[in-house]
Amino acid sequence: MKKIITIDGPAGAGKSTVSKALAGKLGYIYLDTGALYRALAYKVLKDKISVDDQSALANMCLRTTVTLKNINGLMKVYLDGEDVGEKIRTEEVGLAASQISTYAAVRECLLQLQREAGARGGLVAEGRDMGSVVFPQADYKFYLDARMEERIKRRHTELLEKGNPAEYQSIQKDMLTRDEQDKQRQLSPLKVSADAIVIDSTNLSVPEVVGKILDYVLTK
Ligand code: DC
Repeated sequence: MKKIITIDGPAGAGKSTVSKALAGKLGYIYLDTGALYRALAYKVLKDKISVDDQSALANMCLRTTVTLKNINGLMKVYLDGEDVGEKIRTEEVGLAASQISTYAAVRECLLQLQREAGARGGLVAEGRDMGSVVFPQADYKFYLDARMEERIKRRHTELLEKGNPAEYQSIQKDMLTRDEQDKQRQLSPLKVSADAIVIDSTNLSVPEVVGKILDYVLTK
């Protein structure tokens, strides 16, 4: 029986790279739930909706269709039929995603879509509330963390590689804001579930983290 593996943690801890590699090794589907919040945030910014206007956000959710398509094991996100791809990978969109994800209407409109992706198992799902709220029954739950300086360094490199360069200082500021927002919010805050295994990736390479997770999944 194919399992559900959840990987939660803060921005820049290496969740995406690790989850993608892990899903590839197991022949599982990879679901990046941050991309769903980012897709909605992208629309919020494009339509100039205030990130604080709860009723406008709820309204936008009702008018918006977010869908997932499995492309070779990677769940691609479509916003009103459009492949939003790399457009959602900016710091601005990340920050807006963190802001709008504090609201119930926003979280609820994405919940079923995430659960459907895991309905047949064989899923590696990464985000903030995968193990705590979306897949509380997951077979394996991991919480991936890293020291702040390392997380900023990684995000800096990632943005450069994606052609969206940003200053180290501004990444640091955004990351602190996002950490605070994602951890302190009332609904589905980022936290270590009691049944999650914590991995600190500060001094580990991607293959080392993937190896640790695989060891656990294949032997327990
Ligand atoms: O993983 P990411 O950095 O792309 O996520 C962007 C924001 O989306 C994050 O700061 C908070 C929100 N998010 C969330 O609330 N719940 C999730 N499961 C995933 C992301």
